[in-house]
Amino acid sequence: MALSIKTELCDLLGIKYPIIQAGMGPYCTVNLAAAVSNAGALGTVSIPGMTVGPEVATKKIREYIHTVKKNTKNNFAVNTPVGENVPEVMLKTTDAYVSTVIEERENDRELRKRMVLYITSAGNPVRYHKRIKDSGMLHFHVTPSAYHAKKMEKMGLDGVIASGYEAGGHTHRADRIVHTFVLIPSVTDAVKIPVVAAGGMCDAKTLVAALALGAQGIQMGTRFLVTKESDFHSNYKQFIVDAGEWSDMVGTGVYGPARCLRNKGAIEILKLETEGTLSEEELTKLKDEKLWASERDGDVVNGLIGAGQVASRIDSMLSVRDVIESIMHGATDIIKKLNGELR
Ligand SMILES: Cc1cc2nc3c(=O)[nH]c(=O)nc-3n(C[C@H](O)[C@H](O)[C@H](O)COP(=O)(O)O)c2cc1C
Repeated sequence: MALSIKTELCDLLGIKYPIIQAGMGPYCTVNLAAAVSNAGALGTVSIPGMTVGPEVATKKIREYIHTVKKNTKNNFAVNTPVGENVPEVMLKTTDAYVSTVIEERENDRELRKRMVLYITSAGNPVRYHKRIKDSGMLHFHVTPSAYHAKKMEKMGLDGVIASGYEAGGHTHRADRIVHTFVLIPSVTDAVKIPVVAAGGMCDAKTLVAALALGAQGIQMGTRFLVTKESDFHSNYKQFIVDAGEWSDMVGTGVYGPARCLRNKGAIEILKLETEGTLSEEELTKLKDEKLWASERDGDVVNGLIGAGQVASRIDSMLSVRDVIESIMHGATDIIKKLNGELR
């Protein structure tokens, strides 16, 4: 009999496979999200930047969610980082994202049916939780520790995405680092709500490991970024394919430490931070510009290339469907093999 891997997460989110595509703002992921949802996993709409201001935020996120709605008939998610200790413009931008997503959903029957999950990250989501739940969406939050996962469960969240230090983009504070292999079982022991494993997930091996550690599924950023359908510039994707062990580094992002690949742009930012010649606002703006430079112009020399440590394990550009199917088929093969090895 053919094995099929279905977890409680699949039923909760209305998806075939227990795989979520990570939000990867400030990059556009509309093509990627639609392709992921079309292939049976859950695509996620990302935010177009935290310093864009409420007007641009409202216009763009509205455009993004309607594009994904049009390009898939399946369910999908939206992600917004909700950090608090940031400049005023970022707080206003965050508010605009959350309000627009909720309003658009209220006014659109298709969105009410299929935009099922709000993924918050990078701060305490308490100020948005009730509004998200009242809108009818499920609410997951990205957590770096069992401590935070318990807090989210107590707050009433529907699930947590436990993200280990090796993840791409924002990662753990230097004095609070927990790697995926320790984090996932700690979180699955600590809470009863569904746990999704993130940080280093990319293939059948990592899915089976995540399930064995008690997770209900996986979230992948870097692996999905490097796919034929992903909206990222081809130079960006190729930079990740070419990356090997030790290609990554942790610099300072907008909400704290962030993992990217080592290049001239990342080292320049690190130097400016050490020198302290720019104000925090100037530095944040420069980082956003460098993130957009890699997306818009494919500038992989001066731009910033956010990516996880798993970049060293990604050496091919596949279609989204091939990534997902190979994970699911490979995972059943591994489970069958392990089963055969039991005596
Ligand atoms: C380029 C890039 C941008 C990211 N931006 C966001 C974001 O806007 N919001 C968020 O919650 N996480 C963001 N992340 C983190 C991902 O959502 C995800 O948790 C992470 O990629 C998982 O690790 P992996 O890359 O090893 O799969 C970003 C990651 C990358 C690589």
